[in-house]
Amino acid sequence: MTEEPRVIWFTGLSGAGKTTLAEKLVSYLKNSGVKCELLDGDTVRNIFPQTGFSKKDRDEHVKRMGFLASMLERNGVTVVASFISPYRESRDFVRKMCKNFIEVYVATSLETCEKRDVKGLYKKARKGEITSFTGIDDPYEPPLNSELTIKTDNETVDESFRKLLNYLNC
Ligand SMILES: Nc1ncnc2c1ncn2[C@@H]1O[C@H](COP(=O)(O)OP(=O)(O)OP(=O)(O)O)[C@@H](O)[C@H]1O
Ligand SMILES: [Mg+2]
Repeated sequence: MTEEPRVIWFTGLSGAGKTTLAEKLVSYLKNSGVKCELLDGDTVRNIFPQTGFSKKDRDEHVKRMGFLASMLERNGVTVVASFISPYRESRDFVRKMCKNFIEVYVATSLETCEKRDVKGLYKKARKGEITSFTGIDDPYEPPLNSELTIKTDNETVDESFRKLLNYLNC
């Protein structure tokens, strides 16, 4: 695999498989001796619980994480980032800041994500117990030019992961 640090940015709906694939990738890279760091939406939001889900809050969250990713990249660290990052403009803002940006669109359908409902949030969103939930009452703007699209609906985690490694050439 290339020695050049990269920013591998996973985007997609809640339950699409971003964290699952990102965590697998980080352990794979670490085992291969690559200096890397995982930035995950849930981890960051747990540290900064005041971050909300308005467009402004989501944009700030994504852009700040992108800035951090670009600094790590500049210092030789490969960054694996998993954020819903629903807005095209803020993802493109991050792309421009990074040198070697790879956008991975985890393009799992809403239907599948809702069936998985890993965190029980779709159920809550449908009942109106939570609002501004991406895909239900908040928008998701799919990438137009992602480097890689992985549609996980009908494949195992290992199959999706193999596609990812194949693209990354590692
Ligand atoms: N091919 C696949 N790739 C990735 N995940 C899969 C696949 N098939 C099934 N899954 C399952 O889908 C779920 C994805 O959950 P995960 O937490 O990774 O989603 P997420 O995109 O990080 O969501 P969130 O934005 O809410 O954090 C996991 O339970 C995982 O095992
Ligand atoms: Mg996640």
